[in-house]
Amino acid sequence: MKKNKNDEFISIVGHELRTPLTSIRWYISMILEWDMWEISDEARKALNHCYDSSVRLVNLVNDVLALSKIESGKMEYYMKDIQITELLKLVYNDVFLEVESKKVDFEIQIDKHLKEKKINIDTDKIRQVFINLINNAVKFTDIWWKIILKVSKIKNNVKFEIIDNGIWIPKDKIDTIFEKFSQIESSLQRTNTTWLWIGLALCKNFIKDFGSEIKVKSEFGKWSNFSFELNLI
Ligand SMILES: Nc1ncnc2c1ncn2[C@@H]1O[C@H](COP(=O)(O)OP(=O)(O)OP(=O)(O)O)[C@@H](O)[C@H]1O
Ligand SMILES: [Mg+2]
Repeated sequence: MKKNKNDEFISIVGHELRTPLTSIRWYISMILEWDMWEISDEARKALNHCYDSSVRLVNLVNDVLALSKIESGKMEYYMKDIQITELLKLVYNDVFLEVESKKVDFEIQIDKHLKEKKINIDTDKIRQVFINLINNAVKFTDIWWKIILKVSKIKNNVKFEIIDNGIWIPKDKIDTIFEKFSQIESSLQRTNTTWLWIGLALCKNFIKDFGSEIKVKSEFGKWSNFSFELNLI
């Protein structure tokens, strides 16, 4: 396949951004976690903000790189068996900071029949899906809200649902949110921050490549629910 100049550019810029960002994040966490330096509470607070922002930026760069790879048909998947509980631990660690920083009540509910069960999946990619869906739930939710990651058994599938009781999604906009760079014009939906609108497009593509589909339901003033099913092995 002929290499597209645009893809090549995105890929190079992405990698150039990711390397220094990863090192910034590592050094901040070193200052925060090691006892080598005495730091004031104020400095700790500021560094925590820097750390959160660097995590967000790394996630964003990962999303841009992944979407560009998918669109050029060059995405590679590394499938392996993983226990669902093991995956959920990784996901919890991935989103813990974001959830904590917004002081959202986050709960994982898992069907007891699934505890020993495994799925065959590309772990990094499915983590990227969860990071996006849970971060969205946090982002479009207000301080005292709750987010539930519900994991249930449906025949020979595991169903993952990310449920939040934050901002709802209007019915006529529900399909457009999976299109990258789309815009929702509802004043309720507007936040004063600009987002890239690529997270859901990426999730949709990953889940499609895993042979499934993301579904979304939302009810005004009540909740939004993003879900998908994967085969159990
Ligand atoms: N849980 C949710 N509750 C309400 N609206 C949501 C939720 N998840 C997504 N949306 C709507 O769908 C849009 C698209 O989501 P998407 O994740 O693709 O982009 P984003 O979060 O705005 O930006 P980013 O590229 O950083 O993820 C959001 O801007 C938001 O309007
Ligand atoms: Mg998003």
